[in-house]
Amino acid sequence: MCGIVGAIASRNVVPILLEGLKRLEYRGYDSAGLVIGNGQSLERVRSTGRVADLVEKSAQTQGQIGIAHTRWATHGVPSERNAHPHMSRDQIAIVHNGIIENYEELRASLTAAGYEFSSDTDTEVIAHLVHSHYARGNTLLAATQATLTELVGAYAIGVIAADNPDQLICARRGSPLLLGIGENEHFIASDMSALLPVTRRVIYLEEGDVAELSRKGCRIFDETGTETQRPVQLSELSNESVELGQYRHYMQKEIHEQPQALANTLESVCNSQSLIPGIFGADAHSIFAQVESILILACGTSNHAGQVARYWIEEIAGIPCNVEIASEYRYRTSVANPKTLVVTISQSGETADTLAALNHAKNIGHEFSLAICNVPESAIIRQSKLRLLTRAGPEIGVASTKAFTTQLAALFLLTLVLAKQRGKLAPELESQYLHELRHLPVAVQKVLALEPLIADMARHFADKHHALFLGRGLHFPIAMEGALKLKEISYIHAEAYPAGELKHGPLALVDKDMPVISVAPNDALLEKLKSNLQEVRARGGELYVFADANTHIREGDGVHIMHMPEHAGYLSPILHTIPLQLLAYYVALQKGTDVDKPRNLAKSVTVE
Ligand code: M6R
Repeated sequence: MCGIVGAIASRNVVPILLEGLKRLEYRGYDSAGLVIGNGQSLERVRSTGRVADLVEKSAQTQGQIGIAHTRWATHGVPSERNAHPHMSRDQIAIVHNGIIENYEELRASLTAAGYEFSSDTDTEVIAHLVHSHYARGNTLLAATQATLTELVGAYAIGVIAADNPDQLICARRGSPLLLGIGENEHFIASDMSALLPVTRRVIYLEEGDVAELSRKGCRIFDETGTETQRPVQLSELSNESVELGQYRHYMQKEIHEQPQALANTLESVCNSQSLIPGIFGADAHSIFAQVESILILACGTSNHAGQVARYWIEEIAGIPCNVEIASEYRYRTSVANPKTLVVTISQSGETADTLAALNHAKNIGHEFSLAICNVPESAIIRQSKLRLLTRAGPEIGVASTKAFTTQLAALFLLTLVLAKQRGKLAPELESQYLHELRHLPVAVQKVLALEPLIADMARHFADKHHALFLGRGLHFPIAMEGALKLKEISYIHAEAYPAGELKHGPLALVDKDMPVISVAPNDALLEKLKSNLQEVRARGGELYVFADANTHIREGDGVHIMHMPEHAGYLSPILHTIPLQLLAYYVALQKGTDVDKPRNLAKSVTVE
């Protein structure tokens, strides 16, 4: 989604801003822009193309203070006039992430006051409001603070004024924003990766904070307006973790990072002989002791992880578990049980729907919350009582890969800890599962070795427009994840069904042009699945089966088999995800799509 970078320094900040924007490209955007101050005036450059176009357009631009933005359209089509920064009377420039909900009434009153609007965005009202307060003699800080009291909605903003080259103001509520601390230079960004070339020292702003940055320092004010201190932290993000290296795309890199990402996520338990609730936080033991049921809230791929976990939690820990799409749950009238543990799952920890669902759950009386998330400083982590961090490292490709498999590993740990605390995990089973978890990175590595064969298989999909994915039980959510990956990056329409449901409708779609992809683990439902595959073959459907060893599904006319290693028991969904990720990746290469930045999508969905 939208990205913000800002800088105030004694050197030309344009290259810093442009490099920052490039590093934010992965979030998804449709236009980009920057404003630079030179002491008397503000120079704005905007582009509807890639950041590379903005680089060309701003070749002559220079200045020691500036703000820059990548925009993912919400209010108003992607166009230069809607691209940020937005300005008011050439005096005030602002960049904004989030949505201003009361912008229509603000726009009406500002229009009545004589302000002219040059965009269709909700953001432009902020520029005019700051201008109106600044024009009355307030400092830029005070003008911004006064403006914020009039806004309803979510924002992270950066503000500069033409006649004030020595101050950059920023603020956040509902959208992330951080400050980068340099030597006599200061920065703002929506994401730390944007600032890695200039600093690792970072302050994460809290909800409602406003900050005033100069070259020499920064002052932070909390939501009551009181000056406050926030800790300076050293970011652990490394440059290598956000660079492409030997890979063609971030998605391919991130698929291959899964063994290491899983090893990192499991590090705390794999070095010990037994599981303890403390890995979820100091209060985990007492909270888990009171829990009667689980409610999982998440979106997209993270929701699929939750759906796998439902099978684990009910079967291994014996606890009732529901999984809901966060965007639906937040608007549904539901009955809260204070003894339900609300589990949110999110790679970014900033997904607006998941955050809102968590807040809704709290508002209706849920007391216990646990977040499974990949970003330590994210809102979801901060707003949950318990947490387990997936340690997948930054995920740049819009298609979630290593975040998903590490979420599954974390959810399996949660299942085991809950089961153990309920006396449902005998010591020998605990040791066995820990052993299987320790083996997981190696098992994933073996599946990754199938890459050349899957690349070959992908050629069959080059001319296809639709695909069906089948799975059963624990692997039905994996079929859903496979379908999501394929549609997201190759734009092939793909749907997933539990294989037993085929004859209740979707079988009508099956013919030679409808490839049917099936996950075939060697589990208790294998024989049922085989019958379902026969139903497809009998209708002329072309089958692509990812089959565990000893499933005895034979290659033949219209049946393509990809041989997976041994069945991995409960952890099998993690292994079966890998070939579906690779298949989607190589089909997308066949189709020539923009793999890491698929059309219309954004990495962090910070708006509703
Ligand atoms: O950051 P989150 O895990 O909360 O994101 C949720 C979804 O937007 C995300 O998983 C999305 O479905 C992926 N792009 C799919 O690959």
